[in-house]
Amino acid sequence: MKAARYGLWFILPLLAGCTATTDGSDLLWRGTDWPTLHSPIARDAAMEARIAGIVRGMTLEQKIGQMTQPDIRSVTPDDVRRYYIGSVLNGGGAWPGMKKDAPVTAWTALSDAYYRASMSTDMAVQIPVIWGTDAVHGHGNVAGATLFPHNIGLGAARDPDLIQRIGRATARQVRATGISWVFAPTLAVGENRRWGRTYESYSSDPAIVAAYSRALVHGLQGGLTGDGDVVATAKHYLGDGGTFDGVDQGENRATRTHMIQVHGAGYYPALKAGVQTVMVSYSSWNDVAAGNDYGKMHGSRALVTEVLKGKLGFDGLVVSDWNGIQQVPGCTKDHCPQAVNAGVDLIMVPDDWKAFIANTVADVREGRIAMTRIDDAVTRILRVKLRAGLFDHSPVASAFAGRAEALDARELGREAVRKSVVLLKNQGVLPLAPGKRVLVVGASADSLSNQTGGWSLTWQGTENSNADFKGGTTLLAALRDALGASNVTFSKDAVGVDPSSFDAVVAVLGETPYAEYNGDVRAPKPVAHSALHPADLAVLQRVSGKGVPVVSVLYSGRPAYANDLINLSDAFIAAFLPGTEGEGLADLLVGGRHDFTGRLSFAWPGSACSTGENTDSIVQFARGYGLSYARPSRVDALPLPSVPTTCKTSP
Ligand code: BGC
Ligand code: BGC
Repeated sequence: MKAARYGLWFILPLLAGCTATTDGSDLLWRGTDWPTLHSPIARDAAMEARIAGIVRGMTLEQKIGQMTQPDIRSVTPDDVRRYYIGSVLNGGGAWPGMKKDAPVTAWTALSDAYYRASMSTDMAVQIPVIWGTDAVHGHGNVAGATLFPHNIGLGAARDPDLIQRIGRATARQVRATGISWVFAPTLAVGENRRWGRTYESYSSDPAIVAAYSRALVHGLQGGLTGDGDVVATAKHYLGDGGTFDGVDQGENRATRTHMIQVHGAGYYPALKAGVQTVMVSYSSWNDVAAGNDYGKMHGSRALVTEVLKGKLGFDGLVVSDWNGIQQVPGCTKDHCPQAVNAGVDLIMVPDDWKAFIANTVADVREGRIAMTRIDDAVTRILRVKLRAGLFDHSPVASAFAGRAEALDARELGREAVRKSVVLLKNQGVLPLAPGKRVLVVGASADSLSNQTGGWSLTWQGTENSNADFKGGTTLLAALRDALGASNVTFSKDAVGVDPSSFDAVVAVLGETPYAEYNGDVRAPKPVAHSALHPADLAVLQRVSGKGVPVVSVLYSGRPAYANDLINLSDAFIAAFLPGTEGEGLADLLVGGRHDFTGRLSFAWPGSACSTGENTDSIVQFARGYGLSYARPSRVDALPLPSVPTTCKTSP
């Protein structure tokens, strides 16, 4: 009954989505002030009355407990019961029992334990806990889950329908583990290649971000109450992709119009699709042109309350980022009345949650936070839980819960890989005919770590072996399968092998995994792949110019200057971070049954100090560029500007 009632609100926009153009330009907001928006999920009077009744019966401690979100590594089910905890998360690299290979049944057992604890408190009305997770390219923390290409590659696919299907599949993976909330989509419009989170951005084109935003929210949330539906999060609000010099968590200096039209672009479609949660960005906004410094987003009442909850009509919950409150001037990670007063409803305090609860209770008692603000926060948290049907049954009652097969989306992953890689150059080498003798070189050829990048089993994507990714396929394995194992020889470093006895060389180059600020390439360092990963250049030099064509495949979370590598190659593929399904790449390289359709979602730089798409940057391949077998084109020797040891300016 309830499912049908709320489900309908989602079906209507879903159908409308099918008729829209796919490039997203129709979704762009061109106004110079924030739009006035309305969620498709109408307020339900009976539900609101029920929420008000629950809130009225709660003690202050119970309310603050609801506003608190610890990490599973530092909260037990019994803590959830005793402290009335409203939400838990598993941060990157947090697994039940701290076992990386925990089976889905271990996840559901922990989820059920948290749920039961939350439903056996001494509160007048029991409130179910909600568990959130970063399933940012599939259910990244879970062994055996198909991992999709990271967003930068998905942007190259220009296919919102694919994104919606990935959202559906991700939601099922997450429900298989008894989790009901996903911290995605990331709606950053990445404007500087130095940023370590560039790969979490779909595109530097706000239209692509807008189209995908709507598609992923629909895909993840579905009708919100179904067995395969999860609550989605629009993050990181606002301007995370536009920080000065690409510094993670840094300062965005955009004009108001740019913030509204470009960085806001993904949020309007997400809100109009009914996204139920928004995560605040670590970054700050300083509108230098107008002389208006808004400061850290976590402390900005103007942006969180006045804009998001006011003009943009958001009535779901606002969650802070991991210890994000401590970056507000005057705050610490366990105490920040400024953030609560700014409008943050649920506080991600991974470790220091006990002190946070005590400090926030005191804030209310001593008048630093008004009870009306607390009641608003709890009301929003309860609204999301009720809309998502969490009060009705344990999350492990889903038909997908505990089902390992729900983690498997290999065909979809393979399709996504085929669509998300971009052919930058092909001098008649590709496709390779089956049966050709191929020498495969490069440290990334047999590395699921490099293939999947950050947010994969661990937070940084480091400390993983191929065996950890159960069921994943490296490009090397996929090529062996496609060409015949006896036709493929692998040499990681290409030392002492003679390429001339092969028909072709496939060199698999790549960044090593990173996430967030660890992945920043800080100014004034040049952003050149060879400078950052000299071993890749050395491998290519060993096989290039030996009379045998060389096909290079590059795994990277950013477009970095690579003219030297491209010139040493007869074909060059920007594969971004394709995930666990290497077959998708082999589908394109071998046989010619599948053609390339991917087109760059970010401009590719032509110099090591070019880090964006602004007028000062030299662009080698424009956004939208991409060759195919059907549309071949010669790419002659590219210019080789010298790579300085430091860059002078920051464009
Ligand atoms: C990231 C978020 C993420 C959160 C929880 C933060 O460091 O910025 O994107 O959702 O951690 O893992
Ligand atoms: C967590 C991540 C989080 C990060 C922030 C890690 O320990 O696992 O999820 O984003 O810390 O610093």
